[in-house]
Amino acid sequence: MLSFTVLQAQVNSLMPAPQKVIETKAKFRVSNLFSVESSSLTNSRVESYLNNILFRIDGRTGIGISKEQTYNGKGQVNIQYDQVAKLALGADESYKLKITAQAVNITSANDIGAIRGLETLLQLLSSDEDGYYFPGVMITDNPRFQWRGLLIDVCRHFFSVETIKRNLDAMAAMKMNVLHLHLSEDQGFRIESKVYPGLHELGSNGKYYTQDDIQSIIQYADNRGIRVIPEFDIPGHATSWFVAYPELASQPGPYSIEKKYGVMNPSFDPTKEITYDFLDKFLGEMSTLFPDQFMHIGGDENNGEDWDNNSEIQSFMKDNNLKDNQALQNYFNQRVSKILEKYDKTMVGWDEILQPGLPNNIVIQSWRGKEAMINAAKNGYRVMLSNGYYIDLCKPASAHYSNDPLASENNLTPEQRLNILGGEATMWAEMVTEETIDSRIWPRTCAIAERFWSKQDVTDMSDMYRRLDINSVRMEEIGLLHIKNQEMMMRRLTSGADISSLKILIDASEPLKIYSRHHQGVTYSTDMAFTRLADIAIPDPQSVRKFNSMVESYLASNSEKDKQNIIEQLKVWGNNHDEFQDLAKSAPILRDALPISKSLSKCALICLEFMRLEENSRTDSDTKQINSLFSEAKKPCMETELMVITAMEKLLQIKFD
Ligand code: ACM
Repeated sequence: MLSFTVLQAQVNSLMPAPQKVIETKAKFRVSNLFSVESSSLTNSRVESYLNNILFRIDGRTGIGISKEQTYNGKGQVNIQYDQVAKLALGADESYKLKITAQAVNITSANDIGAIRGLETLLQLLSSDEDGYYFPGVMITDNPRFQWRGLLIDVCRHFFSVETIKRNLDAMAAMKMNVLHLHLSEDQGFRIESKVYPGLHELGSNGKYYTQDDIQSIIQYADNRGIRVIPEFDIPGHATSWFVAYPELASQPGPYSIEKKYGVMNPSFDPTKEITYDFLDKFLGEMSTLFPDQFMHIGGDENNGEDWDNNSEIQSFMKDNNLKDNQALQNYFNQRVSKILEKYDKTMVGWDEILQPGLPNNIVIQSWRGKEAMINAAKNGYRVMLSNGYYIDLCKPASAHYSNDPLASENNLTPEQRLNILGGEATMWAEMVTEETIDSRIWPRTCAIAERFWSKQDVTDMSDMYRRLDINSVRMEEIGLLHIKNQEMMMRRLTSGADISSLKILIDASEPLKIYSRHHQGVTYSTDMAFTRLADIAIPDPQSVRKFNSMVESYLASNSEKDKQNIIEQLKVWGNNHDEFQDLAKSAPILRDALPISKSLSKCALICLEFMRLEENSRTDSDTKQINSLFSEAKKPCMETELMVITAMEKLLQIKFD
């Protein structure tokens, strides 16, 4: 059960937590009698945003609200801002929100601040015996970091415009402001080029964004105060470019779109002038299409194999005194940076590109560790952090939440700290599809969004999770599929049979973390169906956290209520295997999960057995049996792992050790 209490002012559920909140006892009643006014500047983001927010309020409350487009300060809900902002790094996103019994006032310097304030207002919608209201507050808010991004890899798997837009809505709900689209990879070239149509025609399997699609995404993002940064990953991760244009590569080819995952050899030939002519025209085209100041050139994981095996490249290196592949890549980066300069774009790249000779206005994206971030910041480069925000590792939200770009041990001067712009969560998509992407990004990314927006001392983990669960449910109203797709995926595997026993098993499990799915015997590729147990299970589920914290609480306080709840849950698990076995009879795909189902039931039953005993009566042979059961239960099965076993072990230890 979700712990969403409706009879409560929602001031404590705000996420990301605002910089300053003063709460009063006032209640502004939501009724169809009040009017909403906003500054009526042309081309403002507020108008359509306001419609959307009012629609969502209406969706929750069933109350129609009238809206005025002129601002004379006489509405009961007033949104006043002085400017329509140009969307750019560092744009002012601050706002003030004041709610009294009589009026709601959002004031901000520009329309981006106003829409951030509207999201806060929506999160405040509360209810009591008398209906719906906004609680009295005086909120002063602004972001801690100016770059609060989400990378979506649209290459390993392609995601429709609709999916991207849905996720932009979710980002806006969490006040994130950069969508980084990873648009080219070994596994696909995902954007239409009119200059070099072979790129998308032969490099994409037909799955790519047209330029109209991209314009529509950029506009949609801009309306939400979100910048769109394109990444064209070069010189490595580049197979898909070479399907149509093998002459750009360091080996003759032929090339085909890669289906497998990993670090591949194909790489641009940095010694040929045609490479730079091509990139000049292509990046020129993209510079016109993408209005943002920044353009990402990747630069990661170029393994140099194809350079080592090309004698002309080797001679070029000797002739030009380039002592190793890193020096050659640096030569390449310098040439590319000149191209971007010509198009008035600022270069962004993964931390591998941080080498001498590049202009010092570039932005480094630190992914391999924190050292690159610190090093870059110390040397006067702007930098944003992704190390620690790799959501595809399927780690818990807590791991990301405790990762602060400006941790005190960084030892940076105040001036150097200013070089740290913020960070990005990275949704690499090897194992992610249209059906699962929402549940891989959300709700865990809410914790990262808060890390980037809220004060450094907002670190209470259990409070973060409390708010995460509330906001996760709220985000369904914008169309996110992170919750509802899970049962659909279960129904697919059970052909209409009752899914309860599968759900009980999944709710106790998580997909394997830290890329270990790649090492369980299945060689994954882009054309496989990602519909298995590990795709249905979600990282860091509330169901697992709930049991684990119940156990912690019981061990700390010995409360009878916790004990009873734990016993109830153990009984559910204990009884589940029989039903699951029946289900697996008619659903052969589930038969591989029988061992994990059996382990869950057996561990639960043994916990029940020993919890019921009054005193320590565990024999040596009991201990042996328990140890062997629990170690079996911790083994991965169908690329998932039971995440409640350690808590069960703790239960037994407290009783009998
Ligand atoms: C990366 O994860 N290769 C940037």
